[in-house]
Amino acid sequence: MNTEELTSNQQSPEDQEKQELLQKRGEIPRHIAVIMDGNGRWAKSRGSVRIAGHKAGVDSVKDITEACGQLGVGYLTLYAFSTENWGRPKGEISALMKLLVQSLRNETRKLNENDIKLSSIGEIDRLPPTCRRELEDAIALTADNKRMELCLALSYSGRWDICQAVNRISKKVRDGVICPDDIDDETIKKHLSTAHIPDPDLIVRTSGEFRLSNFLLWQSAYSEIYITDTYWPDFRRDELYEAIKAYQSRERRFGKVLSHFELEEPSVAIR
Ligand code: FPP
Repeated sequence: MNTEELTSNQQSPEDQEKQELLQKRGEIPRHIAVIMDGNGRWAKSRGSVRIAGHKAGVDSVKDITEACGQLGVGYLTLYAFSTENWGRPKGEISALMKLLVQSLRNETRKLNENDIKLSSIGEIDRLPPTCRRELEDAIALTADNKRMELCLALSYSGRWDICQAVNRISKKVRDGVICPDDIDDETIKKHLSTAHIPDPDLIVRTSGEFRLSNFLLWQSAYSEIYITDTYWPDFRRDELYEAIKAYQSRERRFGKVLSHFELEEPSVAIR
């Protein structure tokens, strides 16, 4: 679907039907996190420059955000710029930052109309001032929205997140606020940048790579992972529905056994 053709909240009857079927079929993940990969390869396959792939990727961001909001996903986290991405050529970094500023300027009104709250995780201080300002303004403007939270991971990495949590916990230990013996999963969770967000139920990675690339390392402990060969600029809502279908057919055991399984006597004696 071309999202440009539809104003906010307009949805084709066929798409509405697909979403209703999906909702009836099973649980819609509460939190979906996406590693948007393959923009460069998408551009190369068309004989174009990398930034053309990033630009096309923005249309996928819009379509997936809109579809998630309509479906009843509570949180959508997008890996938009990693800590490692600072190592890319200066021209590409600056083009990506400009694209982010432009997207925020063009889309914040629509986020508001759709009751979507914007947030971010990562080292926001490292972003260029215009970018940071635009982001902070959009976050403030959408702060009271309730339908869904769109969280942009910017200058983010899972290891950075764990380090900053350990840093903050250490300072509290030093100041006598936390006792070292009391540090547990919950303490760490509360100090991660995602403290206010549930762990992702489903992580989608586009462009066929089988790795997490330093994304939400702590938070992904029990996430279901869906990997597709599709490059991010070609990833649209119909493929999101496939990812959700795959999620709905998984059995999430969180390391336990399901209650309906009978516990059998082991056939071999355990010494
Ligand atoms: C990975 O593709 C993608 C990125 C590093 C940037 C993602 C950014 C966007 C989709 C546009 C702006 C985002 C928002 C939220 C408005 P790659 O360049 O690593 O592709 P490759 O692996 O094929 O080279």
